[in-house]
Amino acid sequence: MSFSHATIEKNVGWLIVLVILVISVGGLVEIVPLYFQKSTTEPVSGLKPYSATQLAGRDIYVREGCYNCHSQMVRPFRAEVERYGPYSVAGEFVYDRPFQWGSKRTGPDLARVGGRYSDEWHRIHLLNPRDLVPESNMPAYPWLDKPLDAAIIPKKMQALRTMGAPYSDAEIAGALEEVKGKSELDALIAYLQVLGTAIRAGGK
Ligand code: HEC
Repeated sequence: MSFSHATIEKNVGWLIVLVILVISVGGLVEIVPLYFQKSTTEPVSGLKPYSATQLAGRDIYVREGCYNCHSQMVRPFRAEVERYGPYSVAGEFVYDRPFQWGSKRTGPDLARVGGRYSDEWHRIHLLNPRDLVPESNMPAYPWLDKPLDAAIIPKKMQALRTMGAPYSDAEIAGALEEVKGKSELDALIAYLQVLGTAIRAGGK
């Protein structure tokens, strides 16, 4: 049997095996280097792991499905950069597990929303977006105005530390103290307010 291109195209078995082989090699060549490149593995200067409160807020962001309408990635296009600020780089997300890039933009991208509004703005907006943006179709989240249950946060910080987030023992030990008396709303706002700020603070 001569092993020509036509033979492969006529034989489903060979086609499947060889397609899988080609895709696997192609995939590995693209993916493996990312684990060793500085630009994808090292934090941008100024990036800190999330504080206990921010981390709790991030969990609420995920729980409430905010990512269904909001991306967190400014793409390197002029229109995006002019609207949102500097485009996102991999080093901003090294402590995000999992990252919240998303792709659905019913609402604006939130990658650089930190510091854009006051805490009070966010509070009113989350409780009822229409109070601030009359035409908004974002849902209201009135139930977030309740005490935060953050019992699991120190364990999460510990787990994240094993994966490279540089938390100190003191930060983990003080986590429950830090979140004491805070509401879910406070935590979510603390998270929103830190988004994208490492780059603006001068990191690259
Ligand atoms: C159904 C889609 C939808 C969901 C779900 C949603 N949003 Fe929104 N969001 C929007 C839209 C549309 C806007 C723009 C109008 C406005 O400001 O209300 C917006 C605006 C915002 C803004 C202001 C952004 C800016 O740059 O002006 C923030 C902050 C925000 N959303 C946070 C959240 C958070 C946090 C959650 C989850 C608790 C969430 N959103 C869930 C649709 C959504």
